[in-house]
Amino acid sequence: MKKTLLYPITFGLVMLCSLPGCSKQDQARAPGPQAETTTRWTIGMSQCNLGEPWRVQMNQDIRMAAEEHPELRVIFKDSQNDSLKQRAQIEEFTSAGVDLIIVSPKEAAPLTPPVAEAFDKGIPVIVLDRRVLGDRYTCFIGADNKRIGKAAGEWIVKRLGGQGNLVELKGLMTSTPGQDRHSGFREGIRGSGLEIIFEADMKWLEPEARKEMESALARFDSIDLVYAHNDPGAHGAYLAALATGREKGIVFVGIDALSQEGRIYVRQGILEASFEYPTGGREAIRAALDILNGKPVDKEITLPSRVFTQANISEGGEWIQ
Ligand code: FRU
Repeated sequence: MKKTLLYPITFGLVMLCSLPGCSKQDQARAPGPQAETTTRWTIGMSQCNLGEPWRVQMNQDIRMAAEEHPELRVIFKDSQNDSLKQRAQIEEFTSAGVDLIIVSPKEAAPLTPPVAEAFDKGIPVIVLDRRVLGDRYTCFIGADNKRIGKAAGEWIVKRLGGQGNLVELKGLMTSTPGQDRHSGFREGIRGSGLEIIFEADMKWLEPEARKEMESALARFDSIDLVYAHNDPGAHGAYLAALATGREKGIVFVGIDALSQEGRIYVRQGILEASFEYPTGGREAIRAALDILNGKPVDKEITLPSRVFTQANISEGGEWIQ
């Protein structure tokens, strides 16, 4: 789609909205006659799921940033935690000829080919939060999950004085944040007397985390701390412990620190710490505008992160170095 022509934009949107995956909600965001006069670029955004508050927040951050730019029109698609569906959505965006794609992929391997195909066809692709494999995309935006995992490990070593029994509830291990939050954490606790007595892949999902924690509680009488790769996971573990009356003897640590989720858990004393994982939505729109305006962008944009604890939450947390 040529940036300066209006009719291909309209054509592309008509095509997009005639695609099987294009819901009523998507159609509602297609430009009306008014928008056609101002919209210059169409961005296709494929979100891997909207089942968790963090992803709803990411879309909201993108929407709010894009609304400041009438020249942008964002078409959102939700792949409902299904990699095949997400693959098809990216292929649809590519064949419709959107000007740019933003994707927050569910898993690395299955989403690599459609991203590479779009990129090879000249459509810029911004990969957000979870990575794909290789380097056939325009730009990756996300916080450093290895560093966050390592900081969590170091915080836990300090908190427990280097001794204790841990449960690790991992994010989906076919997604890169799960892999990095795991390896970084193991690096952070290396050399300490901490022992991982139970670990499981809870796939980023609170109900899965709760189920896994029920097994851990049934098997082990002594659990000192749960490190979960996200706050929904830590909360699910807390609920399992609460149901057996063991929540007071266990420290819960999570990642995400959304103001309406993890930070509230910290304030309530449910979690002792939550490590921030910014959504990158606003930064994605900034990068998209640069790319569309022909300005150079870094291939890798790393976002900063903070740790929130009961001691520092009223001061806005502490930045991770
Ligand atoms: C939401 C989520 C977040 C997590 C991120 C990792 O789907 O699980 O909780 O930080 O994805 O990609």
